[in-house]
Amino acid sequence: MKDYRLVPRISEAEIMEQVDRVAEEVNRDYAGQSLLLVGILKGAYVFLADLARRLTMPVEVDFVRLASYGQSSETSGEVRITKDLELPVRGRHVLVVEDIVDTGLTLDWYLRHLKHLDAASVKLCAFVDKYERREVDVPLDYVGIRVPEGFLVGYGLDFAEKHRNLGGIFEVEFLE
Ligand code: IMP
Repeated sequence: MKDYRLVPRISEAEIMEQVDRVAEEVNRDYAGQSLLLVGILKGAYVFLADLARRLTMPVEVDFVRLASYGQSSETSGEVRITKDLELPVRGRHVLVVEDIVDTGLTLDWYLRHLKHLDAASVKLCAFVDKYERREVDVPLDYVGIRVPEGFLVGYGLDFAEKHRNLGGIFEVEFLE
């Protein structure tokens, strides 16, 4: 693998400010209701943990793991579920929690899958909206930060399974 360095992009303090803001929006929108948070593994585990602890309504948490067919660096849009939900979705208000949305193909596929499960409502929450390479217009109801491009790690995001544990978000810069 080529050598690379990590360039700081979003500090831990800025992340926490945005998580606070998103949690306030969710608390306002779902006041008086209960919510099923569906985290998409692995990347969403950090954001989901921070978000869930700021929510004031009754919350249940479940996880799904999705894998794309084809090359690991490119999303093909053909997705399969490698770990499914364990809680029932029917009649529930579902908030899907994702770490980052890039092309949108993965989330678009999962949304279409969820439609068959008869939830009372489905909304989407992504910490990073990386919008420049978007191929499908996925309706993001809650967004932490918007960035145009760049390969990001930290705050749950990985590069070859590394750096998920960093508190801030960094950009991977390859060295010549
Ligand atoms: P999409 O289907 O192109 O939107 O890809 C979404 C998935 O690709 C995310 O859930 C991440 O797992 C991965 N991904 C996309 N961009 C990045 C990045 O900048 N850093 C780490 N993972 C990323």
